[in-house]
Amino acid sequence: MNTSTSSSGAAPSNGLPRIAVLATGGTIAGSAADATNTAGYQAGVVGVDRLLAAVPALSDVAQVQAGQVASIDSKDMALTLWTTLAQRVNTLLASDDIDGVVITHGTDTLEETAYLLHLTVKSTKPVVLTAAMRPSTALSADGPLNLLNAVVVAASAAAHGQGVLVAVNNRIHSARDVVKTSTFALDAFQSPEVGALGWVQDGRVEFQRSVVRAHTVATEFVIGATWPGVDIVTSYAGVSRVAVDALVMAGVRGIVVAGTGNGSIHTSLQQALADAVSQGVAVVRASRVGSGHVMRNGAAPDDTLGFVAANGLNPYKSRVLLMLALAAGGAGPVVLQRAFDTY
Ligand code: SIN
Repeated sequence: MNTSTSSSGAAPSNGLPRIAVLATGGTIAGSAADATNTAGYQAGVVGVDRLLAAVPALSDVAQVQAGQVASIDSKDMALTLWTTLAQRVNTLLASDDIDGVVITHGTDTLEETAYLLHLTVKSTKPVVLTAAMRPSTALSADGPLNLLNAVVVAASAAAHGQGVLVAVNNRIHSARDVVKTSTFALDAFQSPEVGALGWVQDGRVEFQRSVVRAHTVATEFVIGATWPGVDIVTSYAGVSRVAVDALVMAGVRGIVVAGTGNGSIHTSLQQALADAVSQGVAVVRASRVGSGHVMRNGAAPDDTLGFVAANGLNPYKSRVLLMLALAAGGAGPVVLQRAFDTY
């Protein structure tokens, strides 16, 4: 894994904000055989210096230093890389020489990485993730403008204290709320129910609402080298208990269930999850629906079976929070429910 940091070469010491751009791969660094190809390409092959060189206007908004943290398709994101990335971001932001961080990332797991950083970055300085739906070689590639806009957001005073942000397609989203909602559309990133935080266009940044829930410096979470095993199962017609039983046998510490509707669970799966709780496994009820929240449903099954309700987090973000809460020593449904009601 390459974790070098270099100057972009276009960063004079001119009083502009000092922004570190950390590249991890993704379609924004993707390359196809020809410019009309937007689906058959290799992600994560174009280096950060070439990404920056494609956006000469960056030198008008920031002094940029570049770091190549990884070169992957984000479907292959690993927990060890999350540790490396979060530690790198925290180290950079602790320096008086850095005013903000931009991370280029694949779109596929961006919402998970963004939420992880939202809960573990220990700074009020801006951290902004960006991505692209089209590879860098495509006609009308969206990466260069997304990268410029992300640096503009990271360089803006208004972005301080807003938690980790995602800047794509001219919109600014909170890491907590943003999800990928399309396999191909340029406006794939949305914040269902709550909407974007604001917008960025032509060098101007405007926030229209602020983040309500605790994040970054206001969480008890720190990034560690080890991660408790937490997996996701889904409830659907005819589902069996086989997956849950196998996970318990494998020693997982937590299971998130992507339930139907308001996190409801097929009876056979629910019995398996109740058995898992009785063996010390934390169970969180989220929903596979894609928007809305999952409320505690009172006596059954939450109180009776010891389940936790995911509130407004989707299953993937619920897994991130559950891993961090378990790693921080959180145990039992009451303590874990407080985490889901807080973050
Ligand atoms: C990836 O997530 O790395 C590939 C897909 C993308 O970035 O759009």
